[in-house]
Amino acid sequence: MEKIVINGGKPLFGQVEISGSKNAALPIIYACVLVKGKCVLENIPDISDLRNSFKILEAAGAKIEKLDRNTYAIDCTDFEVGTSDRELELVSKIRGSYYLLGAEFGRFGKSRVAFPGGCNFGVRPIDQHIKGFEALGGRVDVDDGFINIESDNGALGTSIFLDVTSVGATLNIMIAAATAEGMTIIDNAAKEPHVVDCANFLNTCGARISGAGSDMIKIKGVPQLHGCTYAIIPDMIEAGSFMAAAVATHGSVQVNNIIPKHLESISAKLEEIGATVEEFDDAVLVTAGKHLRKTSVKTMPYPGFPTDMHPQMSALLCCAEGTSYINESIFENRFRYVEELRRMGAKIKVDGRIVVIEGGTPMKPASVIATDLRGGVAVMIAALATEGTTEITEIRLIERGYDNICEKLRQLGADIQKITCPDNAE
Ligand code: EPZ
Repeated sequence: MEKIVINGGKPLFGQVEISGSKNAALPIIYACVLVKGKCVLENIPDISDLRNSFKILEAAGAKIEKLDRNTYAIDCTDFEVGTSDRELELVSKIRGSYYLLGAEFGRFGKSRVAFPGGCNFGVRPIDQHIKGFEALGGRVDVDDGFINIESDNGALGTSIFLDVTSVGATLNIMIAAATAEGMTIIDNAAKEPHVVDCANFLNTCGARISGAGSDMIKIKGVPQLHGCTYAIIPDMIEAGSFMAAAVATHGSVQVNNIIPKHLESISAKLEEIGATVEEFDDAVLVTAGKHLRKTSVKTMPYPGFPTDMHPQMSALLCCAEGTSYINESIFENRFRYVEELRRMGAKIKVDGRIVVIEGGTPMKPASVIATDLRGGVAVMIAALATEGTTEITEIRLIERGYDNICEKLRQLGADIQKITCPDNAE
């Protein structure tokens, strides 16, 4: 078993390089299934969700070559549809594996993929994905844990209005429609930067997608796509996580290799509570204010405050004086991390979908767990801001989405160790 041990209470100072975006890399990696040729993907973060995605694709016949730490060549010419269950356990661990549905349906006119996994936030339906595939002419059914798509003539262009602004459904439908016959319009589409990044990747492969980043995306299907070289955008949530850690520890950190526009809602909230955020072309310098003030946050689809920054913001607001509120409007149950912060003495509770934080009381070191990917980083931030030694277990959940986080924090002055201990040890 591995754990992270943090001796906190030290301000973070220095510079950190942000890695490529997990949530952009996932759809793009699976979209390579559409391409009969080689795609070279750069700025790929070294995280387990992506390493496992490569294993899933290789088991289905893709040829994948690691060119350097963050660059991969992927050739899906010999990909075999419906065989991802050769890595069934991995498919059912990762939320992003469901992009295989859109990619297989788009290329082969059919698909068979096991239900996806991902962070446990309560029910995470895929009804909007299915609505899109059916609108594209697919017949979708579910049997013993698999989602099957069949069609007579492959994906056919159509218009789809999403009942929910779903990132995953927007991406999955866009991927399926890239080589569909005719025009597809996705209305009420998600506008996240990773939606734009996947559209840009597909267009670099010869697709004809316009409007990504707005709530209406038009996809003019093309007969086939060709290989390309493409660099993934930086991870805005990794960047936001380091920004929150800098402020919570009363430090000053320059966050490099980012797109400041993607961080606007996060920067605005940090300034609201008393931090300063200085913007450069591809970096921000975040400096904590002398006193951190309370605030209210509501998570919203992009460009609103991202739900993936909710737990990290909670940990930060435990260090701010006064009563703060976080209204989690996207997921019904993204609150499991709250119990872990309470274990550290935080005065935090959940009222419906609103987190209520009585900030300003110093927390205490404790033994806590990473409840999920972002909840794990929340307890890391709390530990960094708290005098004494905190131990965090279940850290594999953190390593699903953060590349080399302990070393990056150590470079900023954190007293942090990743320790491997025998499984029977406490
Ligand atoms: C993506 O999840 C991200 N995951 C999540 O990041 C992120 O929190 C989420 O988008 C919102 O930004 C990946 O990109 C792999 P949604 P996704 O479909 O696509 C409901 C992280 O920490 N919904 O936009 O699953 C759904 O229940 C992860 O990196 C339906 O009702 O999110 C939720 O309430 C966690 N029907 C809301 O929409 C559907 O068919 C938003 O979900 C699909 C979604």
